[in-house]
Amino acid sequence: MSNQNIFDNQEFFEGYKKLRDNPWAANYIVEKPALFSLAPDLNNKVVLELGCGYGENCVQFLKLGAKKVTGLDISAKMLEVAMNENYSPDIQYINKSMTDLHELTEKFDVVFSSLAVHYIEDFDKLVRDIYNLLNEGGYFIFSQEHPLTTALLTQDYWTRNSDDEIIHYNLTTYTQEGVRTGTWIVDGVIKYHRTFSSIVNSLVSAGFVIEKMLEPVPSYDVMNQCPPYKRYIHKPDFLLIRVRKSNP
Ligand SMILES: C[S@@+](CC[C@H](N)C(=O)[O-])C[C@H]1O[C@@H](n2cnc3c(N)ncnc32)[C@H](O)[C@@H]1O
Repeated sequence: MSNQNIFDNQEFFEGYKKLRDNPWAANYIVEKPALFSLAPDLNNKVVLELGCGYGENCVQFLKLGAKKVTGLDISAKMLEVAMNENYSPDIQYINKSMTDLHELTEKFDVVFSSLAVHYIEDFDKLVRDIYNLLNEGGYFIFSQEHPLTTALLTQDYWTRNSDDEIIHYNLTTYTQEGVRTGTWIVDGVIKYHRTFSSIVNSLVSAGFVIEKMLEPVPSYDVMNQCPPYKRYIHKPDFLLIRVRKSNP
């Protein structure tokens, strides 16, 4: 179940590419700036990105001084774009599921993951595997769909007035963890919902120290330029956490 490879579905792949070709995509306006704000000094560091997709972040890690970057992704199609558009001799792209991280033998100073861990069913195992891959003092920094977003079993997210303006968010089934199958570009996209406390407890049980959490929101300027972003007044779309393997 936790190995669904939806990004290799041609219809999904093309639809997702269109979303990402939009410079106003939340990835660029909200998520990536928050992710990079959590990055430690990457100078001379060995970095792993889980669910690296097109490899955009991998190139950025090199620009920030990383010595070597490994980008891992389950989707051969996403990695093909990465090889074509974001190739570097200092980046190694691996076609593998992050459910198989225990097979990696190399150690890393920093592990990033950007909007990919909500595709994984067994978060406890994932986090333990990441802990084992990190050097002492290493960081795990990730973003995921916010638990308030993954909570819903339906996709009836908002209540709107007769002018189609959002009145409030329809939070339901927050405490029921588990699989969520929905329509995003295509039918049958599988994600996993975990509560906030569950996510935090998995990280702590693995031995990580939680350093910082973010629930980023676009500026009012951005909301005014792009009114759909006004929904963030009610609910953040992303949760980001930086944890560390032991205290410095
Ligand atoms: C929303 S995209 C984000 C891509 C990239 N991190 C970025 O922010 O530009 C999620 C990525 O996670 C990958 N992914 C999903 N499940 C995975 C798994 N089990 N193992 C490795 N990668 C996975 C997908 O193939 C996809 O490339």
